[in-house]
Amino acid sequence: MNKYSFIFLLAALGMLASCQSGTETQGSGKQNTVTPDEKDWHTYSNADSVKVTHLALDIAVDFDQKKIKGSAHWDFQFLKSSNSIVFDTWDLSIDSVVLDDGTKAAFVLGAKDSVLGSPLRVPVNGSNKALTIYYSTGPHPIALQWLDPAQTFGKKYPFLYTQSESIYARSWIPCQDGPGIRYTYDAKVKVPAGLMALMSAQNPQQKSADGSYSFKMEQPVPAYLMALAVGDIGFSAVDQRTGVYAEPVVLPRARKELEDIGTMVQTAEKLYGPYRWGRYDVLILPSGFPIGGMENPRLTFSTPTILAGDKSLVNLIAHELAHSWSGNLVTNATWNDFWLNEGFTVYFERRITEATYGKDYVDMLWELGFQDMKAGVEELGAQSRDTWLKLDLKGRDPDIGLTDIAYEKGAAFLFLVEQTVGRDNMDRFLRAYFDSHAFKTIQTEQFLTYLDEHLLKGHPDWKKKININAWVYAPGIPANCPHAGDLRFKKAGAESDAFAAGTPAAQLKTQGWSTYEWMHFLRHLPGGLTTERMKDLDQAFHLTQSGNSEIADLWFLQSIRNHYEPAYPAMKQFLYVTGRQKFLEPLYKAMMATPDGQVMAREIYSKARPNYHPLAQKTIDELLK
Ligand code: BES
Ligand code: ZN
Repeated sequence: MNKYSFIFLLAALGMLASCQSGTETQGSGKQNTVTPDEKDWHTYSNADSVKVTHLALDIAVDFDQKKIKGSAHWDFQFLKSSNSIVFDTWDLSIDSVVLDDGTKAAFVLGAKDSVLGSPLRVPVNGSNKALTIYYSTGPHPIALQWLDPAQTFGKKYPFLYTQSESIYARSWIPCQDGPGIRYTYDAKVKVPAGLMALMSAQNPQQKSADGSYSFKMEQPVPAYLMALAVGDIGFSAVDQRTGVYAEPVVLPRARKELEDIGTMVQTAEKLYGPYRWGRYDVLILPSGFPIGGMENPRLTFSTPTILAGDKSLVNLIAHELAHSWSGNLVTNATWNDFWLNEGFTVYFERRITEATYGKDYVDMLWELGFQDMKAGVEELGAQSRDTWLKLDLKGRDPDIGLTDIAYEKGAAFLFLVEQTVGRDNMDRFLRAYFDSHAFKTIQTEQFLTYLDEHLLKGHPDWKKKININAWVYAPGIPANCPHAGDLRFKKAGAESDAFAAGTPAAQLKTQGWSTYEWMHFLRHLPGGLTTERMKDLDQAFHLTQSGNSEIADLWFLQSIRNHYEPAYPAMKQFLYVTGRQKFLEPLYKAMMATPDGQVMAREIYSKARPNYHPLAQKTIDELLK
């Protein structure tokens, strides 16, 4: 099962949804010609003519009606003459639009496209500099999950959070929703007294008396980095500039698990230059959060499933932190350039992990990533246009691009560049890249020009060895794909083989294994294990009771495949509370493979469904149909 299966499923769902125009699939491998000002197909906005510069948001969060209501005041500037400014919306009710001269604008809300939503066109004249949109969210804003108290850890207060990437910000704020459009913002947010509100901005560390909060984001950001969370949330500092937010019952163990994030920021800075966002905090969300993590500036949103108790899953935080450079500081100009966000971030994440845990440790992550990339290419098809690094998502759902290609093929490409030019050259180059492109957006072609000018020029041998075209403008896994060492996996694999050959579990040499060796071991267990042999493993290693979500998930998967019933009660409990699709989807899929399993899947899902995010519900609904 591939690591980004959730993301993959999102993409599949997107494909089912109708899109505006046809798709172009099979690629020839020839370099395509794209102009530097290539259009972003996933925003209706006309930011190339009239572009927003600052947002003043003023909203109230209504948990009874499950609605956000308020106003978005936008400053804008003319880059070309135009008689209107266009915003993106998705199921928003627009009450009125008032121009800075005090007049009400005769706005037009266009027809809804199932992927892009509706354009909001506001007539303006050259002397207008700002306007205010009064609006409220629709019945099912795709970015929002509203949790009842029962779906939180504390069980007493409701919770709300957003997930705006890639094009969901428009479902809670009318905005020019393209990754290439940056603006600063401030916000006033009113929530029920007793709850805390947090954004991707300067944040409070204590609850306010009356539920009123003010926020400021001084660095320009694109709309996909807009974020809001509201709930019974507490704060615990790690050091001067880092800290952890979580529900009070989770806060102590979250703080313990993440006690190294201050050092992690320093490690990242040593690699690629100063952290430019002021504070770096992490918010641990309730279990329903459908993804692993989201790099909201100043405040990473994270699944609680990384709280393993031994820090073994904190590389997810290294990933989201790394986005503070690759993605948030230097941003993909369109979703076709998504690998510039995610491939760079996986590479950077592994450099942080290597600096912290050493080379043999990070080699395991490279190897798992390589396996994921292989599985991803197999799933898409070795000749698929969607396996180029440079994507072509015109007229399609941008989430189609969320595959292991952007993440793992992207990271492997940078790994190859590093191995070719040497680490010192690579690091000097990347550091300069982040410095020179800070707070800018970039396209693949601009990056390749920069790469040539600042690293490869004058080295035909390097260029030949790397063969950029085979990576960026051609399908599949290039022949020169680098491969990390896999010493530790060889050892874990040998134990897996020994168990398959009949060695009792208690005699396996598992001392000192990290989560990743366990993952490798569990992925490679032989099929058709008897209940007795499963029990032998379970008794030796307490796998059914594992508090490590990655290990538990793989163990439950093997339990379904081998009909190991003693694990079922714990698995059911896991599925009732966990909304992270990466875990849900393979388990439900495995259950659906047998008639008995189908009965069990439906029974579990009937109880678990209300706890899942709307997107997860959609996925599992499909699977169980
Ligand atoms: N930015 C992504 C999450 C994302 C991408 C959400 C596109 C929606 C659309 C985030 O940084 C990410 O990659 N999360 C991974 C974590 C991981 C690779 C360690 C996840 O959630 O699984
Ligand atoms: Zn990422």
